[in-house]
Amino acid sequence: MNIQKVGIFDSGVGGLTVAKEVKAKFPHLDIFYLGDTARLPYGDKSEETIIKYSYKNAKFLFTFGIDLLIVACNTSSSFSLPFLEKEFQFPIVGMINPGANLALKRTKNNKIGLIGTRATIRSGAYRKEIEKINKEALVFEAACPLFVPLVEEGLFEDEVTEIVARRYLKGFLEKEIDTLILGCTHYPVLIPTLKKILPDVEMISSGEATLIHLQENFHLQKENKRGVLRVFATDRSTHFKEIAEKLLGEKIDLELASI
Ligand code: DGL
Repeated sequence: MNIQKVGIFDSGVGGLTVAKEVKAKFPHLDIFYLGDTARLPYGDKSEETIIKYSYKNAKFLFTFGIDLLIVACNTSSSFSLPFLEKEFQFPIVGMINPGANLALKRTKNNKIGLIGTRATIRSGAYRKEIEKINKEALVFEAACPLFVPLVEEGLFEDEVTEIVARRYLKGFLEKEIDTLILGCTHYPVLIPTLKKILPDVEMISSGEATLIHLQENFHLQKENKRGVLRVFATDRSTHFKEIAEKLLGEKIDLELASI
């Protein structure tokens, strides 16, 4: 299948950590990114609401004639994939299977930590996926609800973030995990802070896991052309643009998606 146009959505800026990696590896792709800033956060919403929002996002991206949809939101991926797969014809890549696979590839002692939003942890999606692939693996989980607002505020390496992280990660210290799944696309920018607390632990980010999944499952040939990156948000907050540019390392023209 020849993939040229890729739709990516998240509740906010977090999914740009995935979009950035996809763009760097496959610069010829046209990428349509949607941050559902009007409805963020998803992490404390119910399953029905998360599915409803995810469907709206996918429907918006569908209008660009996308060949592939990346649900760059672990919370949405935890609940809405079966529904989206029924509604749309294009292939859909979520965050759970790629992240679980990569963690199992990297762990040496089969003790895997998982952090995510409340909804992602509650869903048990990662645990189930990991147990399906390897019954021996042990998964230790912690919901980290304050991480998303800290990232949306741009406090990637701040003392406040470090205090919060120390509290959330404390439980992992005695579990001897050697791998930690960052089960939220907002978290990779926190790696320097997380590394201060768990220095010897391998961190699995959704962006890297997605790239590996794309390379293994889709024939994305490199082409000699430059694709476009269009960034939409459902709410025109000036703050989103600022953080998005910080995250992407480039200027963007933020467009409004009225959905
Ligand atoms: N970035 C989303 C994720 O990967 C969550 C952010 C939110 O709570 O809306 O789970």
